[in-house]
Amino acid sequence: MRHLMNPLDFSVEELDKLFALADDIEKDPAKYAHKCDGKILATCFYEPSTRTRLSFESAMTRLGGRVIGFSDAASSSASKGESVSDTIRIISCYADICAMRHPKEGAPMVAAEKSLIPVINAGDGGHQHPTQTLTDLQTIRSLHGDLNHFTIGLCGDLKFGRTVHSLINALVRYEGIKFIFISPEELKIPDYVTDMLREKGIPFQEVIRLEDVMPELDLLYMTRVQKERFFNEEDYVRLKDFYVLTKEKMELAKPDMLVLHPLPRVNEIAVEIDDDPRAAYFKQAQFGVYVRMALILTLLGLA
Ligand code: CP
Repeated sequence: MRHLMNPLDFSVEELDKLFALADDIEKDPAKYAHKCDGKILATCFYEPSTRTRLSFESAMTRLGGRVIGFSDAASSSASKGESVSDTIRIISCYADICAMRHPKEGAPMVAAEKSLIPVINAGDGGHQHPTQTLTDLQTIRSLHGDLNHFTIGLCGDLKFGRTVHSLINALVRYEGIKFIFISPEELKIPDYVTDMLREKGIPFQEVIRLEDVMPELDLLYMTRVQKERFFNEEDYVRLKDFYVLTKEKMELAKPDMLVLHPLPRVNEIAVEIDDDPRAAYFKQAQFGVYVRMALILTLLGLA
C-alpha cells in the first residue's frame, strides 16, 4: 500500500507514467469511466478548500466511484476531540482511499501511519501540497512542453505557501532549472529551501521587485498571501497587495511566458490578465482533475 505525502514519494519515472496516464484520461475519458466502480474515496478536509476537494470528488466520480467525507473540522468528531489517528482507523472501515487536508503540518503523515487505506496529503499547514504539485507539473509539461531547462519565478508568499515548497521540492530533480524568488523580506523563502538548493548546486536568485526579473522568466508562479497563517492581522493587511500582476507588467514578459497560480486568487493577478493567452491558471485547475484521476488509479493499483 502506498500513500502520497510529498512529491518526492514518487520517482521521476513514476511521475512520467502518472502524467502519461493523465494525458490518456484527458484524450479518452470514456475508457476510464468505470475503472473505480464500487470504490469509495473519503475526503477529510479540516481546512477550507474549493479546488482540491472538489477536483478529488470530480475525479473519483468521473472514474465511476463514490465519495464520502467532511469539508469542515467543526462538522466532524474532531470538534469533540477525536484524534486524526482514530479518525483514519474509522475511515479505513468506510472507504478505499482518503484525501486529507489539515492545518497542522504532518497530520496526514500521522494518519498514514495508522491507515489501512492509501492516504493522500491534500495540503498540510504551510508544509506540502503534493497533488497541487502534480497539477503544476502536468500543466508545465503540457503547455510549456518540457519539465527541464527553464527559469521559473515564484512570486508572493514564499514563506507560508505550501504549493511553492512542494513545487521546488519536485523541480529540483529536473535539469537546467533556475529559480527566481520574488517576495518581500517578511515572506521570503525559508532558509532550509535555499540551503538545499545551494547544496545541490541549483541556481537561484532572491529579489523584491517583480518588474526587475520579468523579462528573464519562462514561467511565473504567482501566489496569494496566506492570510490564515498570519499571527497578526496588521502584517497581513500591509503585505497582501504587495504584488499585483497587471497588463503593464505583462508587457515586460516574454511572449510565451506562462502565468501559473494554484488559486484561489485574491488581488495578486488583475482580472484583465485572464484573457491574455499566457494566463494558464484556469487550465491548470482542469489539469488537476486528470492528474488526480491518474493518482487515484495508481494508488488503488488500477492503473
Ligand atoms: N489550490 C488549492 O489548493 O485550492 P483550494 O484551497 O481551493 O483547494
